[in-house]
Order: sequence, then C-alpha cells, then structure tokens
Amino acid sequence: MYKRFQELMVKIADVNYATAVLMWDQETYMPKDGEHYRSQQISTLSGIAHDLFTSKELIELVATLQEDASLNEDQKLNVVETARVLNKKKKLTTAFVMEMSTTVSETFMAWQKAKQNNAVEDYLIHLEKLVLLKREEASLIGYKTHPYDALIDEYELGMTVLELDKLFEDVKVGMKKLLDKINAQPQVKDDCMRQSFDAKKQWTLGIELLKRMGYNFDAGRQDISSHPFTTSFSAQDVRVTTRIAEDDIANMIWSCIHEGGHALYEQGLPASNYGMPAGEAISLGVHESQSRLWENNVGRQLPFWKANYSYLQETFPDQLGHLSLSDFYKAMNKVEPSFIRTESDEITYHFHIMIRYEIEKKLIDGSLEVKDVKKIWDQMYKEYMNIEITDDRKGILQDVHWSHGSFGYFPTYSLGSFYAAQYFEKACKDLPELETEISKGNNQPLLDWLRINIHVHGKKYTAAELCKMVTGQDLDLSFFMNYAEKKYGEIYGF
Ligand code: CO
Repeated sequence: MYKRFQELMVKIADVNYATAVLMWDQETYMPKDGEHYRSQQISTLSGIAHDLFTSKELIELVATLQEDASLNEDQKLNVVETARVLNKKKKLTTAFVMEMSTTVSETFMAWQKAKQNNAVEDYLIHLEKLVLLKREEASLIGYKTHPYDALIDEYELGMTVLELDKLFEDVKVGMKKLLDKINAQPQVKDDCMRQSFDAKKQWTLGIELLKRMGYNFDAGRQDISSHPFTTSFSAQDVRVTTRIAEDDIANMIWSCIHEGGHALYEQGLPASNYGMPAGEAISLGVHESQSRLWENNVGRQLPFWKANYSYLQETFPDQLGHLSLSDFYKAMNKVEPSFIRTESDEITYHFHIMIRYEIEKKLIDGSLEVKDVKKIWDQMYKEYMNIEITDDRKGILQDVHWSHGSFGYFPTYSLGSFYAAQYFEKACKDLPELETEISKGNNQPLLDWLRINIHVHGKKYTAAELCKMVTGQDLDLSFFMNYAEKKYGEIYGF
C-alpha cells in the first residue's frame, strides 16, 4: 500500500517539476509571444497536480497508512507530512481557491502596471480585495493565537507571531545600536564596484565562483534572468540564474553566490526520496540560511577573497588591479540605509523586513486597512532608517510578494540570516581549520559539513528542531549580532 502511495506522490512530483521547467523557461528563454499559451499550459498542469493530490485514492491511502505501524522512519514522515498538507487543503473550498487564484493574477497585473506608471492607488484597490481573502484564508485554516500564524505556516512551519515579535524587538534594538555606531564613523568607499565591467567576463567569473563553491554543473546550469532565482527539477537538475549589470559588479557577484547557496542545498537533498517530503527542503528560512551563509558568512569575508581576489583582479586588471584586498573588502561591506531591500547591506536589510512584517501582521489581524498602508510604510522608513520616500517605485511598489498573496514570507529572509550566523559558527567550532581552508580556496570541508548536518535530512526535522540538534540550542540572535559587531567594528573602526 505504501508503494502505491509513493507511485502517486512521484506522479504528482513529475507534474509539478514539469511545471517548474515551463516556468524556468518563461523567465529565461521563452519568446515574448509565448506568454499566452504558456500561462495556459502552466495552469493546466497545476490543475492536474491539484486533482491528483486531492484525489479520493490518495486521501484514503494516507488515512490508512497513518495507522500503519510497520512503516520505517522516512515512510512515516512522508505520510504524516502529506496528511498535514492535505488536511490544510481540505479546509479551503474549490470556490475559495479559484477566487484567490483570480484575485492574485489581477493584483499581480495591477502591481506590474502600477509600478510602470508609478500609480500606487491602482494597485491598492486590488490589494484590498486580496487582503480580505487572506484574512478569510487564515480563519478557514485556523490558528491558536494570531491569524498571521496560519499564513506563516506555509513558509515556516511552527513559527508564530509570539516568537517573531520577541525576535524582532531584539533585532530592532540591536541593529539600531549597531547602525548608530557605524553612522558615527567615517563612511567607507565602494565606488570601485561601480565602474565598467564587461558582461562576458562577468559571466565567466560567475560560473567560476559557482564551481569553486562546489556547485555541480553536471546537475545544473546557470542562465540569465531579470531577477535571479534558483529552481529545481530534482536534486540532479538544479538551475540558477543571475543578472549582470555592466556598471555594477557587486550585483552579479553576490547574487551569484547567494543563488549558489540555495542550489547547493537542493543538490544535496536525498535524491532517492524524489517527490517525497523526506527529499524536500525544510522551510524557506532554512533555505535562505544556506544562501545567506554562502553570500555573507563566506562570500563577504576575507578568507574567501584571499583565495579568489587575485582571480578577480586578473579578470578586471584595469578596474581592480590597483585596489587592495582590504579596500575591496570594505567596499563589499558598506552599510548605508537605502530604499531597495534587495540591494541593501546585511544590517539595514533587517529594517526592511521588520517594516514589512509589522505591516502585514496588522493587515491580517485587521488592525490596519490597505487604504492606510502607504502612509504607514513611508512613516516607518522615516522612523527606522531616516529616509524619505519620494517615489513609490522605490517604496511600497518595490516587492512582488504582496501582489502574489505571499503574506508571512518576508520574516523568513531575516530568519535565514540569523540561522546562517548560528550554523556557520558551529561549523567553525566543529572544523577549527575551516576558515584557513576557505582562504586556500578549499570550500569542500564547509560543503561536506552542510551536507551532513543540514542537506541530507530533507524535511525530517522542523527548522527549530534542526537548529537545536545541530547547534545544541534554539535560534539565538546573539550569534548574528556578535558576528556583525566584530566584523563591522573592524571595518568601521569602533
Ligand atoms: Co534567497
């Protein structure tokens, strides 16, 4: 009976991964006119996957298998996790799902247009309807203390408002203190990043960096897209994309390392559990911990660039030949409040997240209405980062998430950074030679450590359980704060 359950799950995965291939193509190579039928193809496949997943046969199999005492650990996990997702899906009627899907499409299109025309009001009209539906979704799914909890579960199972409020209160105090110290010092220069860097040479550099991280090109490839992303069709075909700006090399380098970190996680998931929860990533927070760990704890540190800076200088001798490693290091770590989240440094980044978190939490519990969102957004940017929003495209219109109906997603970005700091410190403790090896260009010990401690487990543990198991304690912000204090104290001289 378990075998039949597995057959069905693999079939669903086949359909979902086929959808993912179409979506990857849409973002990379599809000609413009392909849009219409591509949307239809994706929607058809999504419908097929949904029907298979909610079929009577699968529901009955899962119900029976939940009582089966003969299952091994992985099998039990696969059944229990599938039952959990099914149970949630059952609470939403088909009519509700369809209305949500239409509203999301409309809001997304309205957002695109509003962003083009800098016309925020047109977007907010649609967002209002979407927020009402998200409130309804939260109440249909159910929650113990806060409606937002029902929505976070989709991205970070088990995380709650209670926990996030406490965490972000500490983040606010800690980051503010650190930012004040940085602001009191002379600013570092980063103009070296904004010269003219040939796109072809950047492309080759990006590929080489991925190889040096341990990304397996026999099980993946890199292409260009307007927003960098990672997608997976199995652990043996994990694709990344990057974007190249000829007037800013920082853009390509750290988005490439970031996506590389996501991809190493996907390539390290147990391929034998294809299509099953035991072969999937734990949560968005853990996924982001893998990308951030490579991007920041490795890729914005001296050991990594001791190994790679001479290669970068050889690639761009006119631009960087005379720049010292120490100045390059300072440039890549410049801290400065700015408008755009995705372009911000690793300190002020968390202010962007806190603002979105505060707003969406209130939108979902009904203490804030969409008509007041823009005002609150602008006020909070002034209060948290002392910047004035004069253009909504650099303000509330910048991110796609809300127009996709993704409420509860943003906090996982911050969680990822904090998990990354905690995991990296543990890796350094377990492997005292780790940073020496990285400075010699050997990233294998780190990758092996991540594989054994994190990747190989699939969804066997929740994010919180994994953290406790690997590091010996719960998620603790002080790991990130200590790392940041030390690093920025050295860079800015306090
Ligand atoms: Co990411």
